[in-house]
Amino acid sequence: MINKIGIIGGGNIGGVLVHEIVSRRLARNVGLVDVKPPEFAKGKCLDIAEGTPVIARDVNCEGSKTYEVIEGADFVINTAGVPRTMRADGTFPSREELLGINLKITDQVAEGIRKYAPKAFIISIANPLDAIVYRLFKQLKFDPKRIMGMAGVLDSARYKYFIAREANVSVENVEAVVLGGHGDTMVPIRSACRVYGLPVEQFVTAAKLEKLEQRTRGAGGEVVSLLGSGSAFVSPAVSALDMVESIAFDKRKITPVAAYLQGEYGIKGLFVGVPVILGKGGIEDIIKIKLTPEEKKALANSAAAVKKTVAEVDKMK
Ligand code: LAC
Repeated sequence: MINKIGIIGGGNIGGVLVHEIVSRRLARNVGLVDVKPPEFAKGKCLDIAEGTPVIARDVNCEGSKTYEVIEGADFVINTAGVPRTMRADGTFPSREELLGINLKITDQVAEGIRKYAPKAFIISIANPLDAIVYRLFKQLKFDPKRIMGMAGVLDSARYKYFIAREANVSVENVEAVVLGGHGDTMVPIRSACRVYGLPVEQFVTAAKLEKLEQRTRGAGGEVVSLLGSGSAFVSPAVSALDMVESIAFDKRKITPVAAYLQGEYGIKGLFVGVPVILGKGGIEDIIKIKLTPEEKKALANSAAAVKKTVAEVDKMK
């Protein structure tokens, strides 16, 4: 059992994270930080803690406006920042448009982690994902094996879900991977997609797959426009916990995560979604899978988009 998980940001994703950690008995202690007045994080934790006798879970939940509640955490999950939300005219911003506002918050998050949880594994969810995790890394200077972004698990889950619905089979039968940045350029890897171990094309036509892949790229936005306020939160939270479990239980599960690349896939100095082995050391290996020429091109294009946002980050000191 994990001793402590720290959660930064008590909004929708943070709330589901605390709840899920308690339900799964994943850690003995959860520390939640949120600056929202009057004492939002305390209230959130008290609500969840008061339910623990009913569901028979001994997990301590402590919320605060300040970072001491994450002291000594083994994992810190960063959700701090504003989410995408629908405007009055029905449009909504891209994840990249959140950069200016969320970056300022990220610097405070890095400070809190440095002070109270310098040994933790860091999983970042806040958007624009690849740029925020890059900033955390630049500020913290942690070993890149233990700092990563959660995007690929979620994007792949969406792709799997759409395929399962179309093929009319269990979600458990579908294996699918999405790589690249967590934006509109993300890359569903059709060549790695299997239904019951067989090529996906035996179950779904190429024309339909094209549509499902397009839907996958816009899936975060689809939820934003349906909700009317805020963005997806249950699926991102459970996706981050999949990564925590793989590390905590040393599962060595091959998982798509936003990892710091140092030449792998021809990408250098950026966090981009690639398949990695998640085990007790964090990112224990980056797996180089064989991509088709089109997939390679799409991944390079996605990395170029991440690079553009990261260039903005580097300008904002
Ligand atoms: C999404 C947000 C959380 O993809 O990035 O729904």
